[in-house]
Parts: sequence; structure tokens; C-alpha cells
Amino acid sequence: YVIGIDLGTSAVKALLVDQNGVVAGEASRSYPLFHEHSGWSEQRPDDWVEATVEALKELASQGGVSAADIEGVSFSGQMHGLVLLNKEGEPVRNAILWNDTRTTAQCREIEATLGGKLLSVTRNPALEGFTLPKILWVREHEPEAFAQAAIFVLPKDYVRYRLTGELHMDYSDAAGTLLLDVAGKRWSDEVLAAFNLDAGFCPPLVESHGLVGTLLPQIAERTGLSPATKVFAGGADNACGAIGAGILSEGLTLCSIGTSGVILSYENDKTKDFAGKVHFFNHGKEDAFYAMGVTLAAGYSLSWFKKTFAPGESFDELLAGVGDVKPGSNGLLFTPYLVGERTPHADSTIRGSFIGIDGSHERKHFARAVMEGITFSLHESVDMFRQAGKSVDQIVSIGGGAQNPVWLQMQADIFGAEVVALENEQGPGLGAAMLAAYGCGWFASLDDCAASFVKHARSYKPNAEAAAVYGKLFRVYQQVYGATRGLNA
Ligand code: XUL
Repeated sequence: YVIGIDLGTSAVKALLVDQNGVVAGEASRSYPLFHEHSGWSEQRPDDWVEATVEALKELASQGGVSAADIEGVSFSGQMHGLVLLNKEGEPVRNAILWNDTRTTAQCREIEATLGGKLLSVTRNPALEGFTLPKILWVREHEPEAFAQAAIFVLPKDYVRYRLTGELHMDYSDAAGTLLLDVAGKRWSDEVLAAFNLDAGFCPPLVESHGLVGTLLPQIAERTGLSPATKVFAGGADNACGAIGAGILSEGLTLCSIGTSGVILSYENDKTKDFAGKVHFFNHGKEDAFYAMGVTLAAGYSLSWFKKTFAPGESFDELLAGVGDVKPGSNGLLFTPYLVGERTPHADSTIRGSFIGIDGSHERKHFARAVMEGITFSLHESVDMFRQAGKSVDQIVSIGGGAQNPVWLQMQADIFGAEVVALENEQGPGLGAAMLAAYGCGWFASLDDCAASFVKHARSYKPNAEAAAVYGKLFRVYQQVYGATRGLNA
């Protein structure tokens, strides 16, 4: 067996996976988020460690599996979160998370300082969520805390450090810091020098399937796992989500609809240029990359709609009628900018809209329009990939968006691609388990592991009539952004 640990923003989930990729057990523990000021989002790093130890303990005590049969552990982690450690390896303050937006001034400073180097070296725009702006914020606003900081890591790296005593970071997560030379796979001396940061401030880099050590004796004792259990570095949650969905070769694309939504396209070519319009990160597979567009309020738009207009109902009840409404929701259009938008606008001030309301519209039209608006937003990323010369013919759909057959067909019609759902989808935790399986030598490559672990279920092909309706609507959708821009100013 191997264990995949998915360190998320609200909880950690650990999966016990056998040699055929079958999940034999799972355990989960949640932890609090702290929003001390508007736009702030923090967690206590030691809460992650305690929750992970508890989840591992529950997994190890589930019947039928002996500790000696669990060969390896690896991780998937929420990206970008800043954990600053002192010389003793203790956090000097709470972690500042990916969804914290206090760092707009630092982003402008990074753009002004780096100029063209920002895109040519880090391959990404300066966004509030990324790590370097958080480092600069702490240095500026909490100089005492910063003076104690000897090194920085990302969330799952801290948990791994506490489990093994070894400090590392993998390329896929390092890519989200704005300190990595993404194509060159090394910390960027240029960026570090531009911000007066020491090379020793960055942990050693490793591959996601790289062995970093074994469990510390006290952790083995507390969890009931063997101290010989091998620990592999693991990767960023988006990279692990892609691995767990088999997005491991050119031409494969992932659509993941959770709270936020992601369109992720595998990329072999490290020189591919998207002009900073999408994220460009190292994959968890060696020497591979992916480009990714993000819709901030994907599932969140639907949860907001349910909470506001159908508070006592389940999602199934809310969505029961949407299949009866024709594609295009009889002219009702929704833009999902409830908390701003990342791709393609990178605009935290824009807000959403319903447009085209008719006296005949019922709640089911609104519910369908919300699903269509979220999918249009994701299609902006698909469209951008195609414009950059990528072929997007098959998209594996995961998350909440893959639970509903009407939504899966809608994705196929809007994206103009075959959309495939997975059997027993497990999200990034399975990708983490696959990194451990590959690291343990069960397979010669991650691709071989995916061939055995990742199973396609239903497939949805675009319907020409619906695709034509959506094609027209999408052009209107794209104009709404510009037309509603001043609304909240
Ligand atoms: C990616 C991002 C989120 C986090 C969520 O850039 O900010 O998807 O990885 O954990």
C-alpha cells in the first residue's frame, strides 16, 4: 500500500491505496482558517501537522492492513502559502494562504522591480496569492518576525518536514512562489538578488516523486506506521489533481470545478509563451509543465445561488429542473465574478451579473444560467489555449462539475471537446498516492502508474446544435466584462 495525503485549505484527507490503485481506506481531519482582517487568510502550520498525524493514525488503525505493508507516503498541497521558519525550524508566525489578498502593493513592487524578467524567468504574473509578495509583506509590516526567519517553505513542505525532519520543496510547488526559474528548474539568483533575499532562504529542490526520508520514530509511534515508511516529496494540488486524472501527455486537458475552477493543459514545451495570461508551472512529472487558467468563483457561484435562493435544498434538488431548460437558458446569461476574476482578466474588483431576464424565467433557468456562466468563464481558458496553438480535444472533468450529467454535457457543448468523467474519482490525494507508488518503484513511470490507476467512466461528445447556441452566447458573455467594469468602482 501507499498513502496519499491531500493537505487542503479546509481539511487534510489521507487515502490508503493498494497496488491496483484501489482506495482501501480514507481519513480526514479539518482545521480552522483565520480571517483577522478583510482579505486576510491564515492557518496555524502546527494545526496541519496535528490533523495529518491524527488522519494517519486513523488510517493505520483500520483493520486488515499491517504497518509493514504500507511502503510509502506522499503529498498534495494547497499552493503558494507562506510558512516562515526560524533557525530551529519553528514557524515565526501563522501561514499566509493562497487566498489571502493583502499583497496588492507588493505585486506592483515586484512588477516595477523585475520588469520583463518577471515573465521571462518566473513565467507568471505577480498575483496576490503567490508567495514572493507575501514574503515582502512580512518583511515590510512585521520586521521582527522577518528578522527571525531563516528559511521559507510551503504548507505541505512544513508537514513533511515535521514528519521526517528533512526540509525540501518540489518543483511543482516552487513554481508558484515567483522565485523559481521555471524552465531552468532552479531558484532564480536574479529574482533573489533583486529583492535582497539570500539563497539559503530557499529550501533544496527535489522532484515530486523524489525520496526525502523516512518517518521520524516519534511520528511512527504516534501514528502506528512503520519508521521504515518512505516519504516522497509530493506536489502542488493542481499538479496532483492532474496526475490523479492522468493528465500526463501533450493534448490532455483537465477541467476541475471545486470552489474555484481550473482548466489545466499539459505542456512539454518549456518555452511555450502565453504572455502571462495563464499560469505556467512545473508539473509533478519530471521535466513536464502545465498551463492553467483559474475561475475564482466556480462552484462558489453555485453554492452562493443555493444559499441565497434555495437555502433548505440539496444540490440535487436545486439542479433537478436544469435538464428541462434548453441550452442558453432562454436568453438568460450569468457572469460568475462574485469575488473578481483571475483568468483572463486578473481583476479583483469586477462583480457578477444576470442579464436578459424574461418574465417567463423560473428558478431553474437561473440555476442553469449559473452553470453555463461558470462554464463560459472556464471556456475563456480553453479558448486561450487554442489560440496559443494547443489542441484541446479531450478534457477530463473532475470535482463538483463532474457529478452532474447535464453539466458534463454542457461542458462538452461549450468547450467543443469530448469530456470524460472518471470512475471513483479521488482528486489530488490519488495523484499524491501515485507519486508514492512511482517513487517506491512499483512502476517505471508515472504514465505506467496512470495506465493502471486512472479509469475513464462516461464520455460526453459535443452536440452540434447546442454548440452553435453556446458559440453565439459566448461572444455576448465576453462583452459583459467590459460593459460592467465600472459598476463597483
Ligand atoms: C492555484 C491556487 C489554488 C490553490 C488551492 O494557483 O491558488 O488552486 O492551489 O489550493
